[in-house]
Amino acid sequence: MENKNKFEFPKDFLWGAAAASYQIEGDNKNSDWWRWEEMGKTTDKSGRACDYWNQYKKEHDLLEELGVNAFRISLEWSRIEPEEGKFSDENIKHYREILEDLKRRNIKRVVTLWHWTSPIWFADKYGFHKKKSVEIFVRYCEKVIDELGDLIDIYVVFNEPMVPLGLGYMGGTFPPGYKNPFKFYRALKNIVDSYIESYKIIHKKYKDAQVGISYLYNWYEKSDSGLVNFINKISNWWRIDLLGDKIRNYQDYIGIDYYRVGRIRFDFRNIKLDVKNQNYFGFTIDEDDNNIMKWIAYPEGLQKVIKEVCPKYKLPIYILENGLPTHMGLNDEERVRFISNHIFYMKKAMQGGSNVKGYFHWSLLDNYEWLYGFGPRFGLVEVDYETFGRKPKKSFYAYQKIIKNSLEQN
Ligand code: BGC
Repeated sequence: MENKNKFEFPKDFLWGAAAASYQIEGDNKNSDWWRWEEMGKTTDKSGRACDYWNQYKKEHDLLEELGVNAFRISLEWSRIEPEEGKFSDENIKHYREILEDLKRRNIKRVVTLWHWTSPIWFADKYGFHKKKSVEIFVRYCEKVIDELGDLIDIYVVFNEPMVPLGLGYMGGTFPPGYKNPFKFYRALKNIVDSYIESYKIIHKKYKDAQVGISYLYNWYEKSDSGLVNFINKISNWWRIDLLGDKIRNYQDYIGIDYYRVGRIRFDFRNIKLDVKNQNYFGFTIDEDDNNIMKWIAYPEGLQKVIKEVCPKYKLPIYILENGLPTHMGLNDEERVRFISNHIFYMKKAMQGGSNVKGYFHWSLLDNYEWLYGFGPRFGLVEVDYETFGRKPKKSFYAYQKIIKNSLEQN
């Protein structure tokens, strides 16, 4: 007998994988992160990363094999504009080839314009704390729209801006390495202005474009302690509303990057600021010692986050990142469970009426994980950094099956 309650994903649901240019392309020598690496601020240097810049067709073959209908990728500003005001036709052409290749394979292009990296000239002369940065960023954005806009389906103008703002202007661990609340506040304001201006110019040329940002939106759990709940509120305001409220009327969707649960505790014997070890003046976040980045996976949290976001913004939602850091290995049972459990809870949220329009797994490949280098592996596909060989993991086939079943329903 047919089960009337059986859930079917909408026909136009986007199943995807996500990545960022700096983390996979390799040799991004004009970027401020490259210099950050040279300064010894990271565990490893990115070097050739996964060599996606040259070997992108291999990745696109894998995407086809996986069966996704969308890929989230970013553009590296320092390749498009290697010198101030001078755009590289050659590199823009290369990005066109990459995007066209995806289009040929019927894979929609979800493109991030800024995934944490800026050209060195921009970092030196401007930086987002300078007012002029707005004009400079918007000029880059305009160039992208003019040259590549016909190939972009969804724009993610900024990826999780609060992360590089917090770590680069308050924590000092990301470039530009400041610990300065005034500069932080100015940079936040300029990112907001850059975003709103970019939103308007994208819509001027492409009326129906979907434009937004991604928020790092982990689930922070309530506690028995009033103090911790108060800190939870502040942390939510800091991570989401401080920026989200300012751009509220300029978003076509809400992009959620969801990874884990944060259970905050307070220890008055351990009061210090140690961002790398997640100690914020005595407030720490529970850790999973078995996980390479100590993150606690919590699939139910995805449903909770979606339920929190929906009434707040009343916009469609894309899960633009969701993934698990593990040690190297092909037999990644943990990731297999992670994916199916998270999709289960996303589905529950959708059954409850939430308008989720896509799920993008982070990440297609094992890639360069910023401060932590090549240690944590997030990929559905393992990469050998010497030969650049790629091997799909168990989770690749598990995700492939989920996508296939969902698409076959329609
Ligand atoms: C970032 C990615 C990063 C991932 C895992 C996300 O917040 O957008 O660039 O690799 O988290 O840490």
